[in-house]
Amino acid sequence: MSYEPRRPLILGLETSCDETSAAVIDGNHEILGHVILSQDVHEVYGGVVPELAARAHLQKVDAVVAEALARAGVGLQAIDVFGVTAGPGLIGALLVGVCWTKAVAYGRGRPWVPVHHMEAHLFAPSLEDPEAEPPFVSLLVSGGHTLLLHAETWGEYTLLGRTRDDAAGEAFDKVAKLLGLPYPGGPAVETIAREGDPGRHRLTRPMLRGNQRPGDADFYDFSFSGLKTAVGNLARRVALDMGTGDPADLPDSEKAHIARAFQDAAIDVLVSKTLRAVEETGCDRVVLGGGVSANGVLRSEMERRSPGGRVFWASPRLSLDNGAMVARAARFRFDRGEVGALDGSASAGLAFPGLSTASREAAIPRT
Ligand code: KG4
Ligand code: ZN
Repeated sequence: MSYEPRRPLILGLETSCDETSAAVIDGNHEILGHVILSQDVHEVYGGVVPELAARAHLQKVDAVVAEALARAGVGLQAIDVFGVTAGPGLIGALLVGVCWTKAVAYGRGRPWVPVHHMEAHLFAPSLEDPEAEPPFVSLLVSGGHTLLLHAETWGEYTLLGRTRDDAAGEAFDKVAKLLGLPYPGGPAVETIAREGDPGRHRLTRPMLRGNQRPGDADFYDFSFSGLKTAVGNLARRVALDMGTGDPADLPDSEKAHIARAFQDAAIDVLVSKTLRAVEETGCDRVVLGGGVSANGVLRSEMERRSPGGRVFWASPRLSLDNGAMVARAARFRFDRGEVGALDGSASAGLAFPGLSTASREAAIPRT
């Protein structure tokens, strides 16, 4: 028997950074059509150029949506709800998605639903595994954010920790740049680190000490900026010893040892702090989300160090920025009656919906 899609049909559109992506999901959260277009224009600059990102979204958004609809086998008139990432992200890039969505939704007399990009990442694993449901502890690690949350139920989240400076993905990207590896840096660092000797260099684990206690301001927080500097110092020292000068000119074998030392340190901190949250909340389910959760070592270490618990992550396609997770988050918000207003817009610093920070703020002394 062929699959019968259920209402509502939701279109999710993602344009917050450098992926233009659209997906149609149905009432069962089944992905009917999904297109992810990664912009390659940024590769030559070694990072995302905001103006170029916005322009590329504008050029491609119609075609990406049309292809997602075609794969789903439906026309635009069949869409009941239009979901779109409204923030956080690059404002010019976000505006392309939000303006497109609002125009089409109002033109068709349908609701539009603004979605928070990181909440969408939180929903991604549940598209593939219905058991990736709260209550769980979640580590959300992307190019712009590093968040440790306790999700009591969908829509009610407690912030346990976050980065105080660089995001985890940003650290991967900066280390890649330093070593002359291509953008985006995460996959390049992971690949080369496989050849690295874990015993060659050891880097200090930032903000991770055994004597930290729950309630201490740094018990759950992260910091990656010092690690990036430590990697830079190490790479320059090795380059000096080898007479190459620039770390980007080091032989791949040396880059591999450095990349390995960085990745081991970053992942040890991410996993250790997530396990603290598991222990303190008594919640043994962990959901990994965001682009860095595509990292195989992060996944396997999390699983290896959580013997009694379950660890969920999305397939690489749904871990990176994508329209399907946006459609799924839009469905949740729509079911709660949360639809966008006529004068609603994008916001580069959109607040995470339902995220309570009360207990956390109390724990952090104000300076
Ligand atoms: O969620 P995402 O696609 O976009 C943002 O919301 O930022 O995450 C992108 C980030 C980039 O920093 C990229 O280097 C990192 O995720 N990333 C990885 C891997 N794949 C992507 N980091 C580590 N290992 C990977 N395999
Ligand atoms: Zn993302």
